Amino acid sequence: MSRRRPDSFTKRAKAQDFLARSVFKLEEIDKREKLFQGVETIVDLGAAPGSWTQYCVRRVPKAKIVAIDLNPLKFSHPNVQFVQGSITETDMAVYLDGKAADLVLSDMAPKTTGIHDTDVARSAELAEMALETALKVLRPGGSFVAKLFMGESFEAYDVALKKHFEIVKKLRPESTRKRSREIFFIAKSFRGPALS
Ligand SMILES: C[S@@+](CC[C@H](N)C(=O)[O-])C[C@H]1O[C@@H](n2cnc3c(N)ncnc32)[C@H](O)[C@@H]1O
Repeated sequence: MSRRRPDSFTKRAKAQDFLARSVFKLEEIDKREKLFQGVETIVDLGAAPGSWTQYCVRRVPKAKIVAIDLNPLKFSHPNVQFVQGSITETDMAVYLDGKAADLVLSDMAPKTTGIHDTDVARSAELAEMALETALKVLRPGGSFVAKLFMGESFEAYDVALKKHFEIVKKLRPESTRKRSREIFFIAKSFRGPALS
């Protein structure tokens, strides 16, 4: 178990009643990319303990949020439907009652082993599953955010996103820990299911 000393992001998260410091990654992405304008339906992949979901609830209080994680979400809200399970075995469309999502977020990450190639490959698999979900549930024009550990699949993922989205950017948020290899892809203006 990690015994890290709380850094400024951890302290800020606690002060603002957020469940994890990860919230500041989404906040930075949102500030730069204005992801939540007109958003009514959000799919949140890898949601536990729940800081991104909390951020969505505070940012767009009327939005419906469908969230999934292997682990339990540590808060509940009437607009949040939480599914405990694996994205590899779950069709998120089932929980959207026929509605398309405006925004799909994936902060999914594997339990790291410390073996570089294994961790990078598992992260790539999760990012792939996230993209598969986005292609299935997003409305044309919708946005997608996905976390990926830097590695071999980086270029291929970029190419795949560019095929399906008009705008694709990469960001390493300020609150990402120095030794982390994570990078966030932000893809906007989904071209629509015809290409998927
Ligand atoms: C960095 S944490 C997410 C933090 C979260 N966004 C927050 O703000 O509280 C990564 C999460 O991905 C989840 N995860 C990993 N593999 C998964 C899978 N196959 N399906 C669903 N969630 C998964 C992990 O259980 C973990 O909770």
